[in-house]
Amino acid sequence: MSPTPERELAEPYMRTMLASAGLDVEYVRAEGDTLYRLDDQGREVPVTDFAGGYGSLILGHNPPEITDLVRELLDRQVPVYAQTAHHPVANRAAQLLNAAITRETGSVEPYFAFFASTGAEAVEAAVKHAEFDRARKVAALRTEIAEHVDLAGSAIAEGATLGAAERERAGAAPSHTAEQVLSALVERLRRHNEQVLSRPPAYLSLEGSFHGKLVGSVQLTHNHGFREPFAAMAAQARFVPLNQPDALTKAVDELRAWVWDLEVEDGAIRVVERLAPVFGAFLLEPIQGEGGIREVTREFAERVQDTCAEIGCPIIVDEVQSGMGRTGSFLASSSIGLRGDYYTLSKSLGGGIAKSSVMLVREELYRGEFEMLHSSTFAKDGISTPIAVRVLETLEAEDGAAYRRAAERGERLKSVLESVRADFPDVVEDVRGRGLMLGLEFRDTSESPSEVFRFLAEADILGYVLSGYLLRTHGVRVLPTASAVNTLRFAPSIGLTDEAIGQLETALRDVARILRDRDEQALTP
Ligand code: F0G
Repeated sequence: MSPTPERELAEPYMRTMLASAGLDVEYVRAEGDTLYRLDDQGREVPVTDFAGGYGSLILGHNPPEITDLVRELLDRQVPVYAQTAHHPVANRAAQLLNAAITRETGSVEPYFAFFASTGAEAVEAAVKHAEFDRARKVAALRTEIAEHVDLAGSAIAEGATLGAAERERAGAAPSHTAEQVLSALVERLRRHNEQVLSRPPAYLSLEGSFHGKLVGSVQLTHNHGFREPFAAMAAQARFVPLNQPDALTKAVDELRAWVWDLEVEDGAIRVVERLAPVFGAFLLEPIQGEGGIREVTREFAERVQDTCAEIGCPIIVDEVQSGMGRTGSFLASSSIGLRGDYYTLSKSLGGGIAKSSVMLVREELYRGEFEMLHSSTFAKDGISTPIAVRVLETLEAEDGAAYRRAAERGERLKSVLESVRADFPDVVEDVRGRGLMLGLEFRDTSESPSEVFRFLAEADILGYVLSGYLLRTHGVRVLPTASAVNTLRFAPSIGLTDEAIGQLETALRDVARILRDRDEQALTP
C-alpha cells in the first residue's frame, strides 16, 4: 500500500512545531541574502535571510562564482566520485587552507587535511584522530613501565633495596623480604595503572558549546536535552564554564591522573609517578554559535593554551561556524591568539552549494596510519573540492577584501543591533558577536505580568515565536540559537546591503515594542 500523497513522512513532528511558530514556509528560490516564497497567486515574495544557512552562506545563496563553477564542472563531466585515486584538487584545497592559516597565525608548521561532508563528521574525525594518538601513547607507556618492572625484578635479584615509602605503598609487613615487597608493589602498581589507563578518555568542552549531534560529538555538546538520552553511547565530557580560567584549572586538577612507574638508581628501587595521557581533547568554538553567540576571551584562550600544553591535551578549535572569514578573519581563533592542534571547518567551505567539511591536524601530531582506518565515501568528491578551492581563492583575493567586507558589514549590522538595545533596554538584554556572526538576546519573560509571555518563556519558544512574527510581518528571516532561544542569530553574507540592514532594524524595533508593551495580540497570526 502506498502512502497517501498528502501525508507528511519527512519529519512530521518538526513540521508541526514549525507550523506553530509560523516558520513552516517553503522557499522556492534563493539569491544572495534573499529567499523567495510564493503567495496565494503563485507570485514570488522576497524574504531577507539573516539565518544564512546557519552560517553556510558567507558568499550568499547561489553565489555566481560557485554556480558558474559547478555548471562548468558538470559540462566537463568531471568524475564526481572516483574514490581511492589521486586527488590533486583536494591537495590544492589543503594548500590554500594552510596558506590562510599560516598568513593569519604565523605558524609555519603544516596542517594535514581530512575532508568530510558535515561539521559533526569533521569534529568526530578530529576526536578519533586524537584518540588514535592517545591510545598509542597509552600503549607505549604500558610497554615502558613493563620494562621497568622487569628491570626492577633483575635488580632485586642482584640485591637492590626498597625504601620505606615503597614498602608502605606495597602494604608490606616489616618481615617481608625485598622480593616479597616488590611483588606486592608490582601487584598494586598494575592494579592502579590499569584503573587509570583503562578509563575512557577525558574530554574538556565548554558550557554553551555545540560540536554536532552524532554519537560522539553530541556528548561534547553542552545542551543537556540533546546529550542526555544518548549518554550511554560515548565518552563523556567535562563542561567548563566559559571564560573562567580558574574553573578550567580546577576541572583539570580533578581529572588529571598519574601512573606508577619504577626506577632503579644506585641499587635502590623507587616508585615514580608519571602523568598519564588521560585527556582525549579540549574542544572549543572561539565564538560559540548555537549556544548563543558568546566569544572566548583572549585571557581564557591563553589559559586553555597553557593548561593543555602542560597536561598534553590536544586542542580542537571548532571553526565550523566561526571560520571561513565570517568574523572578519579566516579563523576567529586567530584574533584571540588561540592556536589549534586541530581545526574543523565546514559550512561556508561548501560555498552555499556543497556539503563539505575538513579536519586539519598539525604535523607533529599527524598520524598517517589514521588514513587507513578512517574514511568517508563522499570525501574529496569532484564537486565539493573544486568548490572549496574557489571559495578559498575568493576569500583570499584582493589581499583579503572579503574579510574586510565581513568586518565592515558586521560592524554596520552590530551598530544597528546596539541602537535597538539602547532604545529598548528593558527588552534587549545583550548584543554579542563579531563580524557576520552576531546575536541579540531578549530579556527573559518568565516573570512577565503577561501570561502569554510567561508561557513562551516556560515553553522555551520565545525566539521561535518572535522569528515567526518577523517573517510574517516584515519578510525578515532570523532564527534563534537553538540552545539559547532568547538569542536571535544573524549570519548574513558579505554581500549584505544597507537596505537589508534597514529592513531588519525596522523589524527588530517593532518586535522590541511588542515585548515592551506586552502586545500579545500582535504575535497571534
Ligand atoms: N560545530 C559547530 C561549531 C557548529 O556550529 C555545528 C553546527 C557543528 C559543529 C555540526 O555541524 O550540523 O554540519 O554536523 N551548527 C548548527 C547551528 C547546527 O545551529 O549552528 P553539522
